[in-house]
Amino acid sequence: MSMPVRILFVCLGNICRSPLAEGVFKDRLHAAGLSNAMDVDSAGTGSWHVGEAPDTRMQATSRARGVEIGHQKARQITCADLERFDHIFVMDKNNLSDVLSLDPDGLHHHKIRLFREFDPEPGDYQVPDPYYGGEDGFERVFDIADRTASMILRRLLEENPALADQAPGDDQAPGDDQAPGDDQASRDTH
Ligand code: 4NP
Repeated sequence: MSMPVRILFVCLGNICRSPLAEGVFKDRLHAAGLSNAMDVDSAGTGSWHVGEAPDTRMQATSRARGVEIGHQKARQITCADLERFDHIFVMDKNNLSDVLSLDPDGLHHHKIRLFREFDPEPGDYQVPDPYYGGEDGFERVFDIADRTASMILRRLLEENPALADQAPGDDQAPGDDQAPGDDQASRDTH
């Protein structure tokens, strides 16, 4: 079995957008029988919420749509994360400049990309921060994470077809079995 691919999702506080992206991406991995093929985590560029569970509004929206994220704990990104992870997906352009600035020599810049580069409906390529807004902001962020996580998994499997060999034989390609927004039982386990 090949080494797991290491994926990190990053936002500002690590209590809304990136824990959701982590949870939805793990859900897609599990659905594809690929939970052991990738190590998935999330972090924030800021330290205000370190140790906290995700925002209760984000948890509620995610849970209602079949993805449990309440067990996660916020942490702050470190320079070691840039070494450790193979792909780092950031939620907005401020996150992008903050994460790039952790690596002044640019050794890892090729790993760091905007999450919404992979959104089939990309808009301005940023995931809007729902923290100071209303409930609809959390729904909107879930919609973005829902379709983008599936696309990222699909792209990673295209780049590295050997990963798919780790799935049980009867699995479908990610996203083939599920329309965006379909509810499903939570399978985000760890
Ligand atoms: P997140 O949202 O970056 O998606 O986790 C935020 C959470 C907290 C704050 C800002 C954004 N804050 O300022 O505390």
